[in-house]
Amino acid sequence: MRILVTGASGMFGEDIAEVLEEKGHDVIRFKGRSHVDLCDAAVAIPAIREARPQAIVHAAAWRDIDRCETEPVSAFENNALGTRNVMLAATGMDCKVVHISTDAVFDGEKGTPYHEFDSPNPINVYGLTKLAAENEVRSFVRRHFIVRVPLLLGLGGPPGANLIVKTVEKARKGEEIVAACDQVASPTYTRHAAQIVERLLGTDLYGTYHVCNAGSGSRWDVAVEILRLAGYPTARVRPVASAELRRPGPRQRYVVMTSICLKAVAEQCLPDWRAALSECMKVMAERRPELFS
Ligand SMILES: NC(=O)c1ccc[n+]([C@@H]2O[C@H](COP(=O)([O-])OP(=O)(O)OC[C@H]3O[C@@H](n4cnc5c(N)ncnc54)[C@H](OP(=O)(O)O)[C@@H]3O)[C@@H](O)[C@H]2O)c1
Repeated sequence: MRILVTGASGMFGEDIAEVLEEKGHDVIRFKGRSHVDLCDAAVAIPAIREARPQAIVHAAAWRDIDRCETEPVSAFENNALGTRNVMLAATGMDCKVVHISTDAVFDGEKGTPYHEFDSPNPINVYGLTKLAAENEVRSFVRRHFIVRVPLLLGLGGPPGANLIVKTVEKARKGEEIVAACDQVASPTYTRHAAQIVERLLGTDLYGTYHVCNAGSGSRWDVAVEILRLAGYPTARVRPVASAELRRPGPRQRYVVMTSICLKAVAEQCLPDWRAALSECMKVMAERRPELFS
């Protein structure tokens, strides 16, 4: 299949493009704003149509929760209007669309894992923009998959934004590492989620899917596990309450995810997040050996 991937210079988009290519698809990468700015309809819509994709995976977004909170108009432009433009381009081309969404559409107050039929109720601007984007997808494109993913752990992405790299670099420099112990999610390896995206694209089972590794962990659990796997078991991670971090964007307390719908597509659950992180760190060790002790 000829598949266009937006956000292909991002942490998740890179892995999606790579997995699709490995499976023999012809991948067109839209790498970011400097390549094709999706907010600009006059640029984005013709560029997408000229690429003549049979499917689009729309992974581009602003995912910096605090920046979205302080620059809400730009956040809606990038996440909601950008998505509308991609969907407008898709209409009339009869292509399948996978839209990447997030656990941030939920408020984190449910107390048990969120499934696809739970009602969204975002508590920050980022979540509002991503919910608005989902609604654009549903209203423009019939053959769509909305894939909600949680806290992602991966290899690439913009400099300074990769959680694994940031955490290990702080440990190497002996800097203090703090992590919230009251934000619990379903940490997930980008490559595992990308493999599900590829599998969904081979089906006609359209709709909304939650895609995550099994188990749950706090930001603190994730930081401790990263440092253990990177060979810094004695580095101290100070557990803090989210309120102590005084970030502009409110964070959800408990957004563990589960899926009712994915069973039709993937016969097995994805592995536990600790095993998934270990797999990710082995690839990181090959690509960035300097990070490892
Ligand atoms: N990372 C996570 O923990 C996480 C969790 C849940 C959901 N998600 C979702 O997963 C998707 C991918 O996230 P990620 O972690 O890969 O993010 P990322 O590493 O920050 O990458 C985002 C990508 O989107 C591009 N982009 C942003 N605005 C754009 C615009 N107006 N026009 C064209 N390209 C644009 C960026 O390129 P430029 O910056 O060069 O423009 C970059 O390639 C997003 O939809 C995000 O909401 C991520």
